[in-house]
Amino acid sequence: MEVVELAELFLAEIVERRDFGVATELVFRVPPTFRPSPGQFVHLRCGDGGRILRRPYTVFSYGKETASVLVREAGSGSAWLRERRAGDLLDVLGPLGRGFETEDKTDSVMIAGGAGIAPFPLLSRVIRERGGGTVILWGMEYGEEFGDLPDLLAVETELRVATRDGSRGCEGTVLDLAREEGLTEDVAIYACGPRAMLLALVDSLDEAGRSSLQVSMEERMACGLGACRGCAVPEAGGSGYLTACRDGPVFRGEELDWERMRKSI
Ligand code: FES
Repeated sequence: MEVVELAELFLAEIVERRDFGVATELVFRVPPTFRPSPGQFVHLRCGDGGRILRRPYTVFSYGKETASVLVREAGSGSAWLRERRAGDLLDVLGPLGRGFETEDKTDSVMIAGGAGIAPFPLLSRVIRERGGGTVILWGMEYGEEFGDLPDLLAVETELRVATRDGSRGCEGTVLDLAREEGLTEDVAIYACGPRAMLLALVDSLDEAGRSSLQVSMEERMACGLGACRGCAVPEAGGSGYLTACRDGPVFRGEELDWERMRKSI
């Protein structure tokens, strides 16, 4: 799928910022041609001069004139982004990458770890608009980690939360919720989160379940365009690699070599 040709480079005015615990949603203006599919990302330039690398952020929402990203602090680039205010400009390249394919299956389960929730509001909206049923399972450390974002998401979609300390939803991990949900080959499974969570999920699935699985990989990226190979992930069936930025960030579970992935965490 050729996507780079569809990407645009533009300066976007931030029109709103909303803080949700450890994360901040930045809402910015987009051109009318900006039409991302769920799971695609934008590459944001971070900093006013010194830092030259961009940072990838999954499109969290978009409408007619705006789109947003959810920024969780994980270094100097994301810290700079979280300091942005309404009226500031963002240097945006996107949408980039391969997003989720929506399946014909009527039911779907989305499994998110922490900030891995980012692609799912948009994906669940698309699935609901097509008449499909979906539930989002979201694992986090503690109930207030993402402020009132779980309450807001629960207005539009079925959402179940697991927290390590039991302070919201079920006590445990998102995989405990997934087990309760009962993942079968009749259900489309979408997942995004830390690599260890994805590995545990893959381990819990049989072959049929893996073929129903699509994952969005949260890899570090530099160029974002498939040129530097800095975001390589092991490809199934050999010793090769795929790039998360151009071949992904969304992959079918069977496209990736999970055993080699396990060795690199
Ligand atoms: Fe350069 Fe993916 S970030 S190849």
